[in-house]
Amino acid sequence: MAITTCIFDAYGTLFDVTAAARQAAQEPEFPHLVDNWATLANHWRLKQLQYTWLRAITKTHADFWQVTQDGLDWAMEATGLSGDPTLRQRLLDLYWQLQAYEEVPRMLESLKAAGLNTAILSNGSPDMLAGAVRSAGLSETLDDILSVETVGIFKPDSRVYDLVGQRFGCRNEEVLFVSSNGWDAAGASGYGFVTAWANRAGEPVDRLPWTPQHILSDLQAIPELVKG
Ligand code: LAC
Repeated sequence: MAITTCIFDAYGTLFDVTAAARQAAQEPEFPHLVDNWATLANHWRLKQLQYTWLRAITKTHADFWQVTQDGLDWAMEATGLSGDPTLRQRLLDLYWQLQAYEEVPRMLESLKAAGLNTAILSNGSPDMLAGAVRSAGLSETLDDILSVETVGIFKPDSRVYDLVGQRFGCRNEEVLFVSSNGWDAAGASGYGFVTAWANRAGEPVDRLPWTPQHILSDLQAIPELVKG
């Protein structure tokens, strides 16, 4: 069945989650970040994701903004940066204006020119996602921004993936779900979408019961891939 609808994860897929720490490390106020911004960014991301899974399993949902702050607090303590509230605030502010990866604007334009539905499906809260989409200039090429806050649980709960069919009235086989998070691509494959994992970091395939149909190194080839 032909793909009619392309759905994108947000953080790590369209938006570069390491950009906040990388940019702060270039600012004169934070010289102590120069050597360890990558470690901080890595801890921050991993804790943020772990907290989403743990909150989903234990039915203690809090929105992604809370989880993002909790992950940052853990990461700052782990890297000896807890005593810098100015840095904390700067990193959180930057998270609302993350850069999109270089290939993203043109890729979305091609999909829209080909008449496909396009949307984000993300753990992010609606206001965070709206901020990131606006600051990356992607509003015109996305039909919608679907947030887990509608169902109050994080990915990979199936109720999150249900939002796509509810919004676009499409069958699972018509949906190409794209994520740079291996576990998210796997979860969406298990749900029944056609999936593409943009393996930006060159990681091994996740050992889960489901595997993505397509493995790419970035999002450049998505328009060709949906042509079939
Ligand atoms: C998201 C996280 C998983 O955007 O990156 O949903």
